[in-house]
Amino acid sequence: MTQQKETHFGFKTVDWDEKQSRVRGVFDSVASRYDIMNDVMSLGAHRLWKRYMVDTLRLQDDMQVLDLAGGTGDIGFAMRKRAAIDLTICDINAEMLGQGRARGFDTNIRDVKWVCGNAECLPLPDAQFDVVTIAFGIRNVTDIGAALHEMYRVLKPSGRLLCLEFSHPVAALKPIYDAYSFKLIPRMGEWIAKDRDSYQYLVESIRRFPTQDDFAQMMTDAGFAQARYDNLSGGIVALHSGYRI
Ligand SMILES: C[S@@+](CC[C@H](N)C(=O)[O-])C[C@H]1O[C@@H](n2cnc3c(N)ncnc32)[C@H](O)[C@@H]1O
Repeated sequence: MTQQKETHFGFKTVDWDEKQSRVRGVFDSVASRYDIMNDVMSLGAHRLWKRYMVDTLRLQDDMQVLDLAGGTGDIGFAMRKRAAIDLTICDINAEMLGQGRARGFDTNIRDVKWVCGNAECLPLPDAQFDVVTIAFGIRNVTDIGAALHEMYRVLKPSGRLLCLEFSHPVAALKPIYDAYSFKLIPRMGEWIAKDRDSYQYLVESIRRFPTQDDFAQMMTDAGFAQARYDNLSGGIVALHSGYRI
């Protein structure tokens, strides 16, 4: 009998092929309350982390930019406001992209290409982008190595990947961070998004994500040069950077 490959979904062990549909279920469920939950859960800090990411890029008009796992468009719209970039936002979840498209109409940013696709097998050509960004998305992908290879493939030579993700805080912050995230975030999910389980998954998935150094090594293994990271808010979040050779 062949052994089914397994992976994790939060603290649960699930079949490898099952994780993607479970993640899809999470974002289908929270899509309409996703933006407000981000503000409440992070006490607004996600806006600062995202601004830091966009500030790090020296965006110029006409650059080809891909925001992967772009969801409701926070990063994409912030970049588009900085420069007249040629922006593609790709996400596996049509509900999240639908929320983003509606925001684009509200804010009058309409020149965005919206692509529904999986980070592990991007429906995009080789060497198309000067910049690829992914914020709070990579943690949800089943095969992170495959996704990193795809990001490398779609970047032009010398193109840059920036990956913003929850990470592992310094020891001094851990007790308060653990108490806040394990006790309060699932409750907030229940009150505001009417979905405790999805926010329990969020908290657990952060703990399962590789450490800053391990993720930097995964980027190097995928071919990226100068893989490095900056810790934000004491390592609660890390901004990883690397270049296609
Ligand atoms: C936490 S949200 C982040 C959205 C946005 N980047 C932000 O920072 O607000 C994670 C996003 O990753 C997307 N996602 C999960 N797995 C994916 C995959 N395999 N390929 C592409 N997107 C994926 C989800 O649909 C969701 O929109």
